[in-house]
Amino acid sequence: MKLTLIGTGYVGLVTGACFAEVGHNVLCVDNNKDKVSLLKAGKIPIYEPGLEDLVKNNVAAGRLAFTDSTAKGVEHGEVVFIAVPTPPQSDGSVDLTYIEAVAREIAQSLKPGHYRVIVDKSTVPVKTGEKVADTINRYSQKGCEFDVVSNPEFLREGCAIADLMQPDRIVIGSRSQRATDIMKAIYEPFHSPTYITDINSAELIKHAANSFLALKISYINAVAAICDAAGANVDEVADGMGADKRIGRAFLNAGLGYGGSCFPKDIKAFIHIAEELGTPFHLLKEVEKINAGQLDRFIQKIKNKLWVLKNKTLGVLGLAFKGDTDDIRNSVAIELCHRLLNEGASLRVTDPQALEKARPELGEANITYCPDTCDVFNNVEAVIVATEWKHFRNLPWKTLKEKMIAPIVFDGRNLLDYRSLREMGYDYTGIGRP
Ligand code: NAD
Ligand code: UGA
Repeated sequence: MKLTLIGTGYVGLVTGACFAEVGHNVLCVDNNKDKVSLLKAGKIPIYEPGLEDLVKNNVAAGRLAFTDSTAKGVEHGEVVFIAVPTPPQSDGSVDLTYIEAVAREIAQSLKPGHYRVIVDKSTVPVKTGEKVADTINRYSQKGCEFDVVSNPEFLREGCAIADLMQPDRIVIGSRSQRATDIMKAIYEPFHSPTYITDINSAELIKHAANSFLALKISYINAVAAICDAAGANVDEVADGMGADKRIGRAFLNAGLGYGGSCFPKDIKAFIHIAEELGTPFHLLKEVEKINAGQLDRFIQKIKNKLWVLKNKTLGVLGLAFKGDTDDIRNSVAIELCHRLLNEGASLRVTDPQALEKARPELGEANITYCPDTCDVFNNVEAVIVATEWKHFRNLPWKTLKEKMIAPIVFDGRNLLDYRSLREMGYDYTGIGRP
């Protein structure tokens, strides 16, 4: 089928490439001309495992192309997916200007006699589909036929291709049988359970799912604080809880809290949506509060051990908001670096993919960027694990100890095998670990 993605970012590019991989003919649109030129030159603007090969192969096969023209996109695809940003505003509500602008551009490109399905893939507040339909009606010529569908995306960065190729479920919010049938045909090659709902419910599923996952993380982080106080082990508590199928072990990893471009904004948005509908969601405010407290408690642990941080040099392993990505948007690791720098510490930092993206964010003062992970350990008072890159587990910890002023490790992601580190002579502090 001929498909168009408007917005070629994390969601648009990976989705476009996966649609092409299963045989669809995909045109990806972006209004960032530099990004389109890069993609046309065969360069991938983001790091996502497996994406480069997937894009290259499908471009070579003639199933994937790029343009900066929405009009061309609307002409190409009988289905047009919207995958543009939905950032937060200062009051927590969603900034829908990107969605509105794309809806208008699509409307102006529609042609009578050319039916189109307009699919919202961005994460949007409930009732956005209705507004998109109104906008397209208002700005399109008379006689243009279209339907609006909500098809939220559940991919995780770092494993986006697997999440898209083998999804847990596909949600299609639609009120038109014609559009629903087309959507089912698009997703047929993915062999996934599919939930057909009304548009409002589909939009709500996305915010409710992300908020529930964030709630799981805050829940285990609150349990971790109790483990710290009681001398118990949060990993073992999570394993024991998670073995119950009704609970599940996923998203029960205690750490520095959730970050990234989605959970922080989506939880804020859901709180705001509930408030606006007159049904305040107090539980989610507590989820946010626990999340914000994780970094405070962690920094306090560092200070308890190292006392004054001013003029001390610390090593930081990881800057991305999670492992297997170069994305630093709302990264707790970056926030940690800012807080340590503000305390007067100097930092030696590394990240397997996000080092150069972090540089403009963290600046050059009192910070040394180390492309070689092992250089982080040179003459530091302690090393801090801030991002859950598996690579950090397999460092030559035994020999790296000799490079440090004192062998002290703060593990903000409970990533390391603390028993073997202690056997090597490290002073180890994790989150909710004895
Ligand atoms: P992104 O910033 O990586 O990409 C968005 C792209 O849209 C950018 O390349 C931007 O240049 C382009 N764009 C903006 N306005 C445009 C316009 N008028 N015409 C054409 N292109 C335009 O964002 P993202 O991370 O892909 O997120 C997109 C949406 O998907 C958001 O609503 C987000 O919440 C949701 N989402 C993201 C993820 C994720 O893991 N990143 C997962 C699920 C859902
Ligand atoms: C998340 C959801 O998992 C996706 O399903 C959703 O599509 C996406 O948001 C979105 O809407 O954008 P993502 O932000 O890519 O995906 O990454 P996650 O793996 O969910 O991690 C989010 C944050 O939570 C990271 O900072 C991670 O370190 C943290 N986390 C995750 C924990 O602290 N503990 C866990 O057990 C899991």
